[in-house]
This record gives sequence, structure tokens and C-alpha cells, in this order.
Amino acid sequence: MSLKYKWLIGLVSFALVTLIAVLIIDLNVEERDAILIQGDASNGAHLLQTAGCFACHTNVEEGGDAFAGGPPLESPFGTFYAPNITSSSVHGIGSWDIVTFERAVRQGVSPHNKSYYPAFPYMSYRSLTDQDVADLFVALKAIEPVELTYRAHDVGFPFNIRLGLKPWRWMFSTVRPINIDQSTAEGRGRYLVDAVAHCGECHTPRNSIGAPIPPYLGGADLNGGWVPAIVGDALLQMDWTEDDLIYFLDDGMLPDGDYVGGSMVEVIDHGTSAMSVEDRTAIAKYLFSLVKR
Ligand code: HEC
Ligand code: HEC
Repeated sequence: MSLKYKWLIGLVSFALVTLIAVLIIDLNVEERDAILIQGDASNGAHLLQTAGCFACHTNVEEGGDAFAGGPPLESPFGTFYAPNITSSSVHGIGSWDIVTFERAVRQGVSPHNKSYYPAFPYMSYRSLTDQDVADLFVALKAIEPVELTYRAHDVGFPFNIRLGLKPWRWMFSTVRPINIDQSTAEGRGRYLVDAVAHCGECHTPRNSIGAPIPPYLGGADLNGGWVPAIVGDALLQMDWTEDDLIYFLDDGMLPDGDYVGGSMVEVIDHGTSAMSVEDRTAIAKYLFSLVKR
């Protein structure tokens, strides 16, 4: 056998072994110890609003029960429906423990080791603190059970094959938490922008297979509509002040007196308007500290 031929066999087997490994094991999941901190249900209930859990998991328009399943989430790959996460043991998360919950919310993996679609913003939630995860968990456990299997995603081939998410995760996602120092207003703002309110999920551009790419918060195309850049220099160019932004996150009014539209309406109505004025100020301070990169 020629040397060249051996090299080829070597390379092909290496590629195959890597592919099989990526499909079987998820290199992006960690066995983590249970969070032992006692959760605070009232902070958790607040986070269920500000982190968008309620907005995505409740079909308000069709009069659905709270957290029993959400409105259609359009994407270039199809339509996703956030499932029932009430305390029903059959249809929701009633039988889950904190380890299972942490894996789902911060690592994007189901109790049966299936990868979740990134329509569930776990790549942002990966940086939620242990305390906030514990708080969310007790708050959800306190939600009335709703005995309803929610509708399935409407996603075409090949995106309906969940196994394909494993190589995707391997290449594009990270669930490594970022420890964000919240001791300053800007730090608190960064935590809210990146982890809790996941502004980047819509304001940061993505490549053709849905992975986030630079520039961070630099504006993106979302289902055919343009989502503007929200870093400091871009906001200044559009004549925004910090105060404009603080008010905007409360009531959706733009500096020119008009009101914002699109999916930003839900972000404000069910999210940032429920935040304290200190938190909205922190977001404004953080965004104004950024320049496009
Ligand atoms: C942008 C919309 C969106 C937001 C915001 C969101 N989710 Fe979800 N969530 C989803 C989607 C979509 C799925 C289903 C993913 C899948 O099937 O792969 C999901 C799945 C889940 C699951 C897994 C349920 C199961 O039965 O496997 C849990 C738990 C969950 N979300 C909790 C939360 C919590 C807690 C929050 C807030 C911190 C939250 N979600 C915010 C869209 C969202
Ligand atoms: C679910 C997607 C989504 C998320 C999450 C989101 N936004 Fe938006 N945002 C939009 C869309 C879409 C628009 C444009 C709305 C329009 O066309 O009127 C927008 C517009 C804005 C604008 C107005 C910019 C302008 O000049 O018109 C600001 C400011 C803004 N968002 C800030 C934020 C902040 C801060 C966060 C996080 C707390 C956030 N957004 C999270 C979708 C989102």
C-alpha cells in the first residue's frame, strides 16, 4: 500500500470516528453538582417575566394558561412552540429536580439527553447565576399544573432531526458560563442584557445556519425585518440619550415620539417594563458603554 493511500484511510477513519463521537456524546454538556442554594420564589416569579419565560411559554393571544405553551416562534428553519413548563408531572416539569432543570436552562439538554433547539435561548441563560436558577426553579414549581401536551414544532427536513443539533452544538455553541461581575451598574447591565433579557438573541447577527456572529449587538436580519444595532455609538448616531433608552424599555416610546413595533413590543410588555428603574438604568449604562465590534 502506498504511503498516500494509508494517509487517506487514516484521515477518513479519523473523520468518521469524530463524527460518531459527536453524534453519540455531546461534548458540550457537563455533569454539574446540584445547586444547593435555597430558591426565592418571589425573585423567581419576577425573573419569569424579565427573562421572557412567560412571554415565550404562554399563548396570551389564544387565551392559553400561564406557562402551558407559547405562541408560534417564526424562524428561517420553521415554527417553534415553547412547551408546557407548568408543574404537571406528565406534561410539564413537575417531576424534574434541580439538576435536570439546570441542564435544560443553562446547557440546553433535555432529561433524555436530547439537544434543545437554540430557539430556547439557553446560550444566553448559560450565564445565569446559581441563585437565579434556583429562584426560577422554585417559582416554576409553584405554577398550577396544566394537563396539556402542547403542539409540536413545525420544522421541515433536515432541521426536524434533533441529532443534527449535536454537531451544530459542537461547532457553534458554548454552554460554558460567563461569570459576570454585577457589583457595578454597568456589570449589572451586562448581566441583564446578556444572560437575563438575552437582547443578543435578536440584535446580534447570525450566520446562515443560525449561529451568532460578530458584531455583538450590531444589528441583525430577523425573519426578513431589520433589528437595529443597540451599541452606544449606534444609539448616539440615532440621537438616543441614556434617558430615552430607560423610558423606552418601560413603555416602548422612541425618541421621536413614535412607538416601537415587532417582537420588541413583547420584550418590553412582558420583560423590561417589569424591571426596576435601577435595572433599566443599568441596561442603558451598559449599552452606552459599548462601541460596535
Ligand atoms: C425565545 C423563546 C423562549 C424563551 C424566552 C424561553 N423559552 Fe423555554 N423553551 C423555548 C422553546 C422553543 C423550547 C423547546 C425547545 C426544543 O424543543 O428543543 C423551550 C423549552 C424549555 C424547557 C424544556 C421543557 C421540556 O419539556 O423539555 C424548559 C424547562 C424551559 N424552556 C424553561 C424556560 C425558562 C425557565 C425560561 C426563562 C428563564 C424560558 N424557558 C424562556 C422557548 C423559550
Ligand atoms: C425577540 C427579539 C428581540 C429581543 C430579545 C430584543 N429586541 Fe430590541 N428590537 C427587536 C426588533 C424586531 C426591533 C425593531 C422593532 C421595529 O421594527 O419597530 C427592536 C428594536 C429595539 C430598539 C429600538 C431601536 C431603534 O432605533 O428603533 C432598542 C433600543 C432595542 N430594541 C433594545 C433592546 C434591548 C435593550 C433588549 C434586551 C433587553 C432587546 N432590544 C431585546 C427585537 C428584539
